[in-house]
Amino acid sequence: MPDSGRDIAKNATAAIFGGTFDPIHNGHLAVAAAVRECYGLGGVILMPTGSSWLKSGRDVSGAEARYDMARLAVAGDPAFSVSRLEIDRPGNTYTIDTVHELLGKNKNLKISLIVGSDILFEIPSWREPDELLRLCSLIAVARPGHDKDAVRAQFRLIRSNYGCRINLYSGPMLDISSSAVRDNVLYGKSIRYLVPRDVEHYIAERGLYRDPEFEAFLDSAAVRGYRERVKSLISPYRYSHSLGVAEWAVRLARKYGADKQKAYIAGVLHDLAKEFPGANLLHGSAAAVYAGGRLNVRDPDILDAIRYHTTGAPDMPLLSRILFIADMTEPMRDYKGADELRALAVEDLDRAMVSALEMKMEFTREKGREVHPDAVKALEYYKKACETNGGYNGKQNNGK
Ligand SMILES: [Fe+2]
Ligand SMILES: [Fe+2]
Repeated sequence: MPDSGRDIAKNATAAIFGGTFDPIHNGHLAVAAAVRECYGLGGVILMPTGSSWLKSGRDVSGAEARYDMARLAVAGDPAFSVSRLEIDRPGNTYTIDTVHELLGKNKNLKISLIVGSDILFEIPSWREPDELLRLCSLIAVARPGHDKDAVRAQFRLIRSNYGCRINLYSGPMLDISSSAVRDNVLYGKSIRYLVPRDVEHYIAERGLYRDPEFEAFLDSAAVRGYRERVKSLISPYRYSHSLGVAEWAVRLARKYGADKQKAYIAGVLHDLAKEFPGANLLHGSAAAVYAGGRLNVRDPDILDAIRYHTTGAPDMPLLSRILFIADMTEPMRDYKGADELRALAVEDLDRAMVSALEMKMEFTREKGREVHPDAVKALEYYKKACETNGGYNGKQNNGK
C-alpha cells in the first residue's frame, strides 16, 4: 500500500501519533480525533513503530499487520493518514529522524507529537530531545491511573528545560488498551466494541493474538475441573473475581516472565476457601491445603502463591508476587487507589507490592483488625528492595 502519510504532510499542521498499535483500538482513535479538534490540527498521521522496538516480555505482531490494521481503522477519513516511515526504516527508529523526513517533504509543516503522559518522563532520554522539541510541539495525553501531580511536575520541567510548546490534554477518553484487546481474543471474548469492525475481522481472519497451546491448556480436563470445583465452592461474584485474577495474573506473568499456566491456576484457585466457615483470615492457607490435598495440585510455586496471597511475605517468588498484586488489581476491583495500583502493577512489581501492602494494612486497621505480622515483614522487605534497586523492575526505556 502507498504511504498515505504523504497526503497529510501537505497540510499546514499535523500531529504525529506514534505507537505500537498492536492492535490499534477505538481508544487510540477517539483520543486522536479529540486532540485534533481541540487543537485545530489539520490532520493526524498514525505512525506505527518499527518492529525493532520490542516491548519486553512478549512478541509484537509484524509491522505489516499493525500497519494494515491502522489503515483499515481510518480508511475513508481524510483527517487521518498512516505512515510507513518508521516501519520501513531499518534498525531502531528515532522520532527525530521521522520529523526530519516529514519536514524534508514540507519544510513549512508545523508538527505536534501526541504522546501519552508517561512518555514525558522518557523524552529527555530520547535521541536529540533539544532539536526534537525545537522542531515540534508536544501534546501529552493524560492516562488513567497515572499520578497527576508527578505528570504536572514533569510537564513544567519539560517546558522550562526545553522552552517548547507543550499542552496537557485531559479530556474524556476511552479507557481501552491493546493488551485488553489481545486478552479478549485469547480468552475467546468479544472485541466488537473495542476496535473498528474491519480491524476485528482482520484479527479473526489472520488468527492474530491466538495462542493454541494456552487455549488447549484452558480447555484441558484438569483446568476445567479446577474451575468447576471453585465455582461450586464460592458465590458467583467471587467466582468472577477469581477468573478476573487468573486472567490478570496471566497478563502480569507475561510481562514479568513468569509461567502463564501456573499464574492462571493460582488465580482460579486462590479464593476457593474464602467462604469456608471461620476461614476468612486464613483462607489463603486453607485454599493451599485444599488444593494440595483435594485437587492434587503438586506445584510448590502455585501452592505458595495461594498460601501467601492474603498477607504477603518477605522475598516472595515471582509467581507469589504476581498473584498478590493480581488479586488486588483485577479489573473488578474499584476501591480508592485501585486504578493507580493497576497502572503501577504493569510498570514495577516491587513498587506495586509496597503500595498494595500499605493499602491492605490501612484497610485492616480501618476495620479495627490487627495487621498480620507477615504483612508487616513483607512491607519492610519490599520497601528495602525498592530502595536498593531503585524500584526498577521490568521497565524498559526504548530511548526514542
Ligand atoms: Fe483472597
Ligand atoms: Fe481474591
